[in-house]
Amino acid sequence: MSNQVFNFGAGPAMLPIPVMKQIQEEFLDYHGMGVSVIEISHRSKEFEAVIDRCDELVREVASLPDNYKILYTHGGARMQFSAVPMNLLPLKPAGRAVYSETGNFSKQANVEAARYGDVIIASSGEKTNYDRLPPLTRDMVPDNASYAYITSNNTIYGTQYKEYPDLGDIPLVVDATSDIFSRPVDFSKLGLMFASLQKNLGPAGTALVIVREDLIGHAMKHTPSLLDYKVYESSHSLSNTNNTFAIYAMCLVMEWIKNEGGVEAMAEVNAEKADLLYGVIDNSAFYQGAAFVGDRSHMNVTFTLPNDELTKKFLDEALEIGLYALKGHRLVGGVRASIYNAMPLEGCQALASFMQEFERRAG
Ligand SMILES: Cc1ncc(COP(=O)(O)O)c(C=O)c1O
Repeated sequence: MSNQVFNFGAGPAMLPIPVMKQIQEEFLDYHGMGVSVIEISHRSKEFEAVIDRCDELVREVASLPDNYKILYTHGGARMQFSAVPMNLLPLKPAGRAVYSETGNFSKQANVEAARYGDVIIASSGEKTNYDRLPPLTRDMVPDNASYAYITSNNTIYGTQYKEYPDLGDIPLVVDATSDIFSRPVDFSKLGLMFASLQKNLGPAGTALVIVREDLIGHAMKHTPSLLDYKVYESSHSLSNTNNTFAIYAMCLVMEWIKNEGGVEAMAEVNAEKADLLYGVIDNSAFYQGAAFVGDRSHMNVTFTLPNDELTKKFLDEALEIGLYALKGHRLVGGVRASIYNAMPLEGCQALASFMQEFERRAG
């Protein structure tokens, strides 16, 4: 591992090193079978054991109540922007949903939902380029709404809900692509949570959907079967050939989270990592945090430097010392350090030291 860097990429993002090593070690010969895990049938007893174990770990790590189902769906998080309205809008006759627009991904989600029903944007952070989270309270949601939708962590802008809005009887749908299992969540308060695997869980292209069972089975008539939650639920997500490698890798990531001490331990280290970087930003007149202090993310730390020239120099020099993929998203600019579960504390320590040293030289 001589050329190992700290990978701050937003996604697909780094996976825990022990998981990558285990994948490598058993890749050619899965559990003595003489074949790779990607070469065995999705209906074999060996793969069944993988998906069963993954379910078990999700249930345990998330402290998931029994009335929530676990689905592994095709098409990443973006496909859920369509699946959510197609499955949930029919819950009430008005076919209406409420979205809080907290960034680019929630905007894409509400535009997609509007193809299928009546979408109300209850609040939006667009005016301030999504640097803070707009409010969403029960009185902003009409009683006839089938669901309300938020993005838990806004990957591009670096904002994150500390607590989810309490919407009482209205099912809350959460896109937790960039912070799933990074901290404890009370699932009994949620209708549905989904996340692409590609940040905190594994490879890209597949999503984990955790959904309250009474919300399954209401899909619109023309819903493609591979977007229908009922089809996933009744086939244990194996109605067709699913992405067996992604589910296998996720299973190993879940095992790693459990062994590290679960979501409580993740939250503790994630807070320590984020505090280190925000500490440097707050003690500097050189770096400017991009997100409103009260809404800052523990997953994506966004900040700017005084000008583009210094930003480029910062990124070039960071890369030279093994701090990889720190460029901010074009919608915000500057620098973004994505510090998901798999980023070790040492990665943030290395970045914090570099930031201080760079400021001394260039500030
Ligand atoms: C919060 C959030 N939602 C949705 C997506 C889209 O995920 P995918 O590209 O896997 O569909 C992303 C991707 O970065 C994201 O950060």
